[in-house]
Amino acid sequence: MAKLASQFVCQNCGAAYRKWVGRCEACGEWNTVTEEAAPANQAPGGLKGKRRGRHIAFESLAGASEPPPRMTSGIAELDRVFGGGLVAGSVILLGGDPGIGKSTIALQGAARLASQGARCLYLSGEEAIDQVRMRARRLGLADAPVELAAATDVRNILTSLEGERADLVVIDSIQTMFLDSLESAPGTVGQVRGASQELIRHAKATGTVVILIGHVTKEGQLAGPKVLEHMVDTVLYFEGERGHQFRILRAVKNRFGATDEIGVFEMTDHGLEEVANPSALFLDNRDDDVAGSAVFAGIEGSRPMLVEIQALVAPSPLGTPRRAVVGWDTGRLAMVLAVLDARCGLALGGHDVYLNVAGGLRIQEPAADLAVAAALISSYAGAPLAATTVLFGEIGLSGEVRPVSQAAARLREAGKLGFSRAIVPARSKGAKGGAALKLEPVEELGQLVDLIRGSTRG
Ligand code: TYD
Ligand code: MG
Repeated sequence: MAKLASQFVCQNCGAAYRKWVGRCEACGEWNTVTEEAAPANQAPGGLKGKRRGRHIAFESLAGASEPPPRMTSGIAELDRVFGGGLVAGSVILLGGDPGIGKSTIALQGAARLASQGARCLYLSGEEAIDQVRMRARRLGLADAPVELAAATDVRNILTSLEGERADLVVIDSIQTMFLDSLESAPGTVGQVRGASQELIRHAKATGTVVILIGHVTKEGQLAGPKVLEHMVDTVLYFEGERGHQFRILRAVKNRFGATDEIGVFEMTDHGLEEVANPSALFLDNRDDDVAGSAVFAGIEGSRPMLVEIQALVAPSPLGTPRRAVVGWDTGRLAMVLAVLDARCGLALGGHDVYLNVAGGLRIQEPAADLAVAAALISSYAGAPLAATTVLFGEIGLSGEVRPVSQAAARLREAGKLGFSRAIVPARSKGAKGGAALKLEPVEELGQLVDLIRGSTRG
């Protein structure tokens, strides 16, 4: 059979086609399919030739394996997201929007490890050495024994690493790296995948930890390296709203630790600083007695975190009222609005609705439904919730309030921060109030509406 000279690969999801198509059938994106040279081992034919494979020795599952040794940076928020430190030979993909602070956190982590005696190499394909030095100076890390190089050719990088003992190699960024054996341009799926494969092989062979920095596209996906997610051991995303100083490092995949673990940082003049008590920070600057504000007792990874949810509901002059959401899911907001309308008679159809999660956090838990509903009702009714009230609970389509996981941990955090009332789903497992924290169980959304409206009358 004729060897395929080229193939057409979607730059978003990596799906391959024999012919060009305008829209990728796999991910539905338009204009993402470009021509690339077909990798030799993907040419038809499969296992050709007569050479027999080698026998593989099987081992019993019950055999003893030591837990992997870990390198800790001493930056607690960072180590937590890694699952308790960096595991030798692991490969980490660090993704995020341009300018969010990926290079900064990578350099800070590398510098801390280097000053503890680890050999850390920082390979920059985006910035010149001088720029990296300038950043280091700004971070107060100018004297850290990190070794720098500006390089983009993976062959040169691997040759330079040969025979060297390195504990950590940072590649900033994977989109700038290229393999000269591939024809496609740097940044294409083929190049990103090829370059990563080589670097991953190096990590596994030598026990060096490799951090691959990757940019994310507007749609929130890593440009091209979506395909990388399953090749690497750990995938971290650096999130945060522009204009907010908070940055959240989130583990979305981790072969060596828990996923959905987050580390909270604050971007300051001299780099990223850890935030040890995020709840206190997200609740900072809160006004008492403002309608449209509710505090959600959430869980991020293994950690309870209280955040303020703000809503503004106002009559709309527009035919199609505005719905604007920051930090939460638009679809979920539509659902809560529909349930409020259909089950509680709160007709918000003619109102503009703005929803904001304060501090630039992105909430993904459905457990935030109840707090969102409370903020909406409060703003609509002009009835402030007491500033010492927290809420959590999922809302079902029939208006029922459903229990959510880890109620006890949520309540403990609320108690610790001085909240005195918690509106929670009835039948929450393990939810116990106390003298300081009074529980107010609700079974359906209508009860919440009454509670909030009643608070102004009472
Ligand atoms: P950077 O780490 O270069 O982002 P990325 O590698 O994700 O593209 O961070 C760049 C931004 O961070 C830039 O807008 C300036 C800001 N910054 C600070 O506010 N303080 C600092 O100490 C540093 C180093 C950067
Ligand atoms: Mg950068």
